[in-house]
Amino acid sequence: MILSAAMTLDGKIATKTRDSRISCEEDLLRVHKLRADVDAIMVGIETVLTDDPSLTVNRVKGKSPMRIVLDSNARTPLTGRVLTRRGEEPTLVAVARNAPKERVEALRSAGAEVIVTGSIGKVDLQSLLLSLHQRGIKRVMVEGGGNVNWSLLRYGLVDEVRVALAPMIVGGRDATTLVEGEGVTKIADGMRLALQRIERYGEDIVLTYRVFSQEVTG
Ligand SMILES: NC(=O)c1ccc[n+]([C@@H]2O[C@H](COP(=O)([O-])OP(=O)(O)OC[C@H]3O[C@@H](n4cnc5c(N)ncnc54)[C@H](OP(=O)(O)O)[C@@H]3O)[C@@H](O)[C@H]2O)c1
Repeated sequence: MILSAAMTLDGKIATKTRDSRISCEEDLLRVHKLRADVDAIMVGIETVLTDDPSLTVNRVKGKSPMRIVLDSNARTPLTGRVLTRRGEEPTLVAVARNAPKERVEALRSAGAEVIVTGSIGKVDLQSLLLSLHQRGIKRVMVEGGGNVNWSLLRYGLVDEVRVALAPMIVGGRDATTLVEGEGVTKIADGMRLALQRIERYGEDIVLTYRVFSQEVTG
């Protein structure tokens, strides 16, 4: 799994008002090439509700991969671009066992494939990834946001992190950072990564890291 994000120098992926247009044009082209090269793009429901992304490949030529929304309570808007901008495959909405049945049916009627994962509360990421793997969906890219990034990292499900670092600082204690969630207590408990590449796209610097650590326990 590749975690992909665009971040300001102060570690934010969106401002306090949730504006998240951070990448420069050259970097957006790189992201669209990466999208065309994976089997699926995954995002959290808050990203869908905030940005209304289509998550298709449209800046370069290439096949749009499957789109996956992590949406425990089936809140994905039926009018959202992730559903209305049709791709080659239906959008998959992963919900938790307790998601309202009528919402699940409405999503199915709107053309989505709905996967009910085992857990109550939040989508069970491990079982979701296992079932995707069994269907041949092996190269997955996650495009945030910060809470989903944390969940995937903490369960040791991310192999690679690719972050575009934009030369800007936006501040704000309520701005979303690259990784949100609970966090670890001590620096020594932090996930370890190894720098693989430094590239320049326009004014952005793209850092690619291999993730070493397994599940975070502390
Ligand atoms: N700059 C960038 O590269 C970039 C990329 C993406 C997003 N963003 C920005 O990030 C912000 C959204 O980030 P966010 O952290 O608030 O939300 P998020 O990570 O997009 O979505 C979090 C939500 O996903 C759902 N979810 C389902 N299963 C989950 C699981 N196992 N673990 C964690 N979450 C799970 C939860 O809602 P339920 O309980 O309802 O399921 C959770 O609240 C937006 O402002 C967006 O613009 C920036």
